[in-house]
Amino acid sequence: MSTTQRTSAVPNVTLNDGHSIPQLGFGVFQIDPAETAEAVSTALEVGYRHIDTAQMYRNERGVGQAVRGSGLDRAEVFITSKLNNGHHRPADARRAFETTLSELGFDFVDLFLIHWPLPTLYGGDFVSTWKTLEELRADGRVRSIGVSNFQVEHLERLASASDQAPAVNQIELHPYLLNEQVRGYGEAHDIATEAWSPIAQGAVLDDPEITAIAERLDKSPAQVVLRWHIQRGNIVFPKSTTPARIKENFQLFDFQLEADDVARITALDKGEVGRTGPHPETFAHIPA
Ligand SMILES: NC(=O)c1ccc[n+]([C@@H]2O[C@H](COP(=O)([O-])OP(=O)(O)OC[C@H]3O[C@@H](n4cnc5c(N)ncnc54)[C@H](OP(=O)(O)O)[C@@H]3O)[C@@H](O)[C@H]2O)c1
Repeated sequence: MSTTQRTSAVPNVTLNDGHSIPQLGFGVFQIDPAETAEAVSTALEVGYRHIDTAQMYRNERGVGQAVRGSGLDRAEVFITSKLNNGHHRPADARRAFETTLSELGFDFVDLFLIHWPLPTLYGGDFVSTWKTLEELRADGRVRSIGVSNFQVEHLERLASASDQAPAVNQIELHPYLLNEQVRGYGEAHDIATEAWSPIAQGAVLDDPEITAIAERLDKSPAQVVLRWHIQRGNIVFPKSTTPARIKENFQLFDFQLEADDVARITALDKGEVGRTGPHPETFAHIPA
């Protein structure tokens, strides 16, 4: 994995399969399907070229509408979606992938992920789900495949069953939950780490350590935290439906944090106490 600068200010991360992904994108979790096209249109106008959606967000259609309405070529925008927890069985996964393409209205996606490992469901068999994603990639309608919320033991099981490591692992990661064991495994095995809830849905923005750095640099707390992720090599896609914040979160490339500030933010880790979302070992939700 390496980062290179292209024409946009946003660096690209080269994945283990040779494809590249913009290090900064726009997330659409918890955006109402009816408001998604508008939010994504704003993000594309601001300059984002990477959108992170999922079947379970029920808003893939709005993502496709916004990309088509933007006047950009499909190839200029990196689009990720993720498999619904209810469709891990191979035949279901194939059908669900077709639905993703038709909801988006595109003939390929850039990255498709297993959203959760669900080790307590499907007899703990996420390996056959992974093999199905490998088939989809071989068909050519998904460029890169990866996982989300996989723990080290889940990644080790995939490694023993498959020659192709996931291109990415998308995990909860922010200053209050460094998730270092999983991130470190990714770094050692050339699996790029995508940090979900990069500002912990706002929970880290009032931290005195972060607000002090923000005031000194004349940046917002969100910009400081997102810049911290960028300098640590994480791929991020903050969510917002507020146009001013969508713009603010994109302005990360005209300043740098000193090593000492990076270290002070890294020291805020609370371990498991800092986790805001479900634990991947026990999460077993299947949408109705
Ligand atoms: N794989 C997974 O299991 C998983 C799980 C969760 C998330 N994700 C992905 O990660 C993306 C980001 O995570 P997230 O949506 O959970 O949380 P997040 O990006 O950490 O935070 C979003 C929240 O912060 C607010 N916010 C955004 N920018 C701000 C700013 N500059 N100043 C103050 N507040 C700000 C937003 O409010 P407003 O919208 O009101 O502006 C929203 O309430 C998701 O959209 C999704 O794509 C993946």
